[in-house]
Amino acid sequence: MSHNSFGHLLRITTWGESHGSAIGCVLDGCPPGIEITEAEIQTYLDKRRPGQSRYTTQRKEPDTVKILSGVFEDDDGKQVTTGTPISLVIENVDQRSKDYSEIKDKFRPGHADYTYLEKYGIRDYRGGGRSSARETAMRVAAGAIARKVVPGLTVRAALVQLGPHAINRDNWDWDQVDQNPFFCPDHGSVQSWASYLDGIRKNGSSCGAVIEVVADSVPAGLGAPIYGKLDQDIASGLMSINAVKGVEIGAGMGAAALTGEENADEIRIGKDGKPEFQSNNAGGILGGISSGQPVVARFAVKPTSSILTPRKTIDAHGNETEISTKGRHDPCVGIRAVPIGEAMVALVIADHYLLHRAQTGKS
Ligand SMILES: Cc1cc2nc3c(=O)[nH]c(=O)nc-3n(C[C@H](O)[C@H](O)[C@H](O)COP(=O)(O)O)c2cc1C
Repeated sequence: MSHNSFGHLLRITTWGESHGSAIGCVLDGCPPGIEITEAEIQTYLDKRRPGQSRYTTQRKEPDTVKILSGVFEDDDGKQVTTGTPISLVIENVDQRSKDYSEIKDKFRPGHADYTYLEKYGIRDYRGGGRSSARETAMRVAAGAIARKVVPGLTVRAALVQLGPHAINRDNWDWDQVDQNPFFCPDHGSVQSWASYLDGIRKNGSSCGAVIEVVADSVPAGLGAPIYGKLDQDIASGLMSINAVKGVEIGAGMGAAALTGEENADEIRIGKDGKPEFQSNNAGGILGGISSGQPVVARFAVKPTSSILTPRKTIDAHGNETEISTKGRHDPCVGIRAVPIGEAMVALVIADHYLLHRAQTGKS
């Protein structure tokens, strides 16, 4: 497997399996002088950490991050990046490999068990091995650094649909997102989501979700035409997250149903003399280049495939059988995908910020 790196100038390489001794990453290309501490990275990891409510897996993964390299104390005593590769590591501490003995020879429908074995002829079945979303903890850790590369950048995400239940967008309130176990921006949806997911969980089933990521204060000019589009790399980054089945930018799939008049984001001159767009169907990107508007992306996460309900499958010896996956699985992995989506968008924007600066000298 050789595709473990993502990004151009700012490049993350991750390593490790779910039940190995540790997972880690190297973030290369980060400029020097960016203030960062383990505690700061940890705040983002804590958002992704499981076991925080009954709606996520009860696996106990403290995900304590250690910085091994690339950060040093500056003359003012602050921990800053040095411009050398930043190496981060998290020890795996709550492995229960016996939970997975049933899937040793059976393929979970909807999971990567069959394709990994077909491709490599060998498979670390414990916790899904490399196909486990444990790997995404390192993206969140690297994303905590990436978001500091672009001055003033904020990248936030929220769950906008749980199973078939979408939020009421008129109620959108960012302050609500950290006040409930779903990262839901609509207070009015929380109770019904809780009842819905309780039912799903008690039935041993699972459901999907849609997450919206919004990046504010993205300078205009990031991204390149044709093969280096900002939206192209955002789509790639989000699609690389486990269980993601759809990505859209701005109006996305909905743009197909709009007329040209409805879709056009009309432009006026704002009080500051800068262009002021009257709407944002483009999701802040035109011709692959950021317009200065908020960058908006959404991604759909499928239902967790490890479910208790028995499903028809086959085993590694060519027999038809059934599988019911026990163990500690999230009833909706979309919830914990929220900070992961933020991290991927931050990594892409920071990468393009550095590319733009390298090519044009502008920042
Ligand atoms: C945060 C997160 C946690 C996940 N946890 C589980 C899990 O506990 N059980 C499971 O079957 N799948 C889980 N997944 C999804 C699998 O990793 C994913 O479905 C699998 O690797 C196959 O890849 P694909 O769905 O992208 O095709 C999780 C995904 C995310 C984003």
